[in-house]
Amino acid sequence: MDRECNVLEGMPAPRSRHFVDALDLSPEEYQQLFTLAEEIMADPAAFSSSCSGKLMATLFYEPSTRTRLSFEAAMLRLGGRVITVADPRTSSVAKGETLADTIRTVGGYADLIVLRHPKEGAAVLAALYSPVPLINGGDGAHEHPTQTLTDLCTILTYKGRLEGLTVATCGDLKYGRTVHSLIKALARYPGTRFILISPEELRLPEQVKEEVLALREDVELCGTTRMEEGLAEADVLYMTRIQKERFFNEEDYLRLRDFYVLTPERLRLARDDLIVMHPLPRVTEIVPEVDGDKRAVYFQQARLGMFVRMALIARLLGVA
Ligand code: NCD
Repeated sequence: MDRECNVLEGMPAPRSRHFVDALDLSPEEYQQLFTLAEEIMADPAAFSSSCSGKLMATLFYEPSTRTRLSFEAAMLRLGGRVITVADPRTSSVAKGETLADTIRTVGGYADLIVLRHPKEGAAVLAALYSPVPLINGGDGAHEHPTQTLTDLCTILTYKGRLEGLTVATCGDLKYGRTVHSLIKALARYPGTRFILISPEELRLPEQVKEEVLALREDVELCGTTRMEEGLAEADVLYMTRIQKERFFNEEDYLRLRDFYVLTPERLRLARDDLIVMHPLPRVTEIVPEVDGDKRAVYFQQARLGMFVRMALIARLLGVA
């Protein structure tokens, strides 16, 4: 989406296309990316110099393993190169530089920026100042749109469709940004039903519900605190971690941390063709004994994330 920023005095209007919100791409564009990701998976060598001569900057101001490394692996596998800030204490943020200034500067060095930031809305702001495509790698408890690309690509791979699915999301629906983006994106497909399993205190924010209902009035959003209720009916079980870093006190976190724990016994309640997903990292919410169940696809999900990010980078840079 072109984000005009000439309302900001002295700023040129960047012409780049950014990906900061799950809804920045249409379902058709999602599909094009999944098709491209599939082509890349089938013949990686054919894309191994697609981004030669291009440089990507990853600016990660919050911890990350999968998002940063899968983006970097993606760019390197496309023949591009990477510069990175993985710790804000080693960058000029520590000297008090504003995000706007950092982005304008880095946008002069790199052809693409991936930003992870602890503040909600940081990516929208950064995109206003970025002269190159900017990708939101997660902004606080708000959004994580490239995890959504990963998640939909996984669902499509294992379920063969994105329409008419019953998706149970379980855990921290309040602070879990991956769930916010996923629900918004999936709500656009007809017949999606959501079973929202969370403790009372960690329910899906009203604002996300409103956004989802604005997309599709008839979307079903059933809230429950009982994991068993969602398990029997679900096509997809999307487990999430209780987001410790967003809590104001340790006591509340410890009380809620083990609220839902997926075990092989609990999985017996679920359908045989269920898939169990998790954006990872997991803490205690899925016991390791579940990993061997054929329905557990979270590590395959993480790997698919690299290919779909290759497709996204290639598209935003206009090389595929
Ligand atoms: C998620 C995130 O950072 O929001 N991780 C990821 O990017 N795969 C989920 C989480 O941290 O719980």
